[in-house]
Amino acid sequence: MERNSRVPSSAQTGPHEDLPRLLERRAASPFLKPCAEYNRRAFLESMERRERVSPGKPLILDSCCGNGASAVALAEAFPEHYVIGVDKSAARLAKHPRRLMPNLDLVRADLADYWRLMHGAGVRLARHYLLYPNPWPKIGQLSRRWHAHPVFPSLLELGGRLECRSNWRIYIEEFCFSIRHLTGIDARCETWRPDAAQTPFEKKYLESDHELFRAVVGLRYQESDVRNQIS
Ligand SMILES: C[S@@+](CC[C@H](N)C(=O)[O-])C[C@H]1O[C@@H](n2cnc3c(N)ncnc32)[C@H](O)[C@@H]1O
Repeated sequence: MERNSRVPSSAQTGPHEDLPRLLERRAASPFLKPCAEYNRRAFLESMERRERVSPGKPLILDSCCGNGASAVALAEAFPEHYVIGVDKSAARLAKHPRRLMPNLDLVRADLADYWRLMHGAGVRLARHYLLYPNPWPKIGQLSRRWHAHPVFPSLLELGGRLECRSNWRIYIEEFCFSIRHLTGIDARCETWRPDAAQTPFEKKYLESDHELFRAVVGLRYQESDVRNQIS
């Protein structure tokens, strides 16, 4: 990967002014788009594998896992957990340095469906990582960012310790705004300076001297309870 990658360039100088209105609109009309059959199958098969291999182990989800390097690192760091990495790109997942680990599964699926299927099945997470999601920095791309996407409430319902990282400060500020707006949790954007890169994109950004940002929130949900607390 190149060392001179650029920070997302955007006409936005702060959180998008339409974000509160968009969140209100989303709240008034639930996301009813049917899930694609291939995502449904990928979800069910991944749950069957988990049940077969590690029933009852707490679950870590690495969403937008790219080539799966961070999912491998998580499976090593948390041997008592079961880790699922999900990405929609078969090409990225194919680059995964294949290693058989009993507590790791990599799944090709679109998270806009996978998160909803998890939520619908009552799955709850111990930890959830969303590392360097595509920023969609153009002003007209707001609704493509996960925190403005109609699936975001389902993602929050999965609970656990949720961490999102980006090299675009505004993405994390907006991410925190949406969490505060939807849950009342005091989510805050902080600077992130890792000792070593944990994902390919993090490596590329560190080598390009980018400032990195993250939000870490503790979501603790009762089923269908939107109120929660920082853990
Ligand atoms: C910028 S890359 C980051 C990859 C990895 N987390 C890293 O830090 O190296 C964003 C990833 O999100 C994935 N992605 C984007 N939209 C997705 C979706 N709807 N469902 C699943 N994966 C998606 C892309 O395929 C891509 O691998």
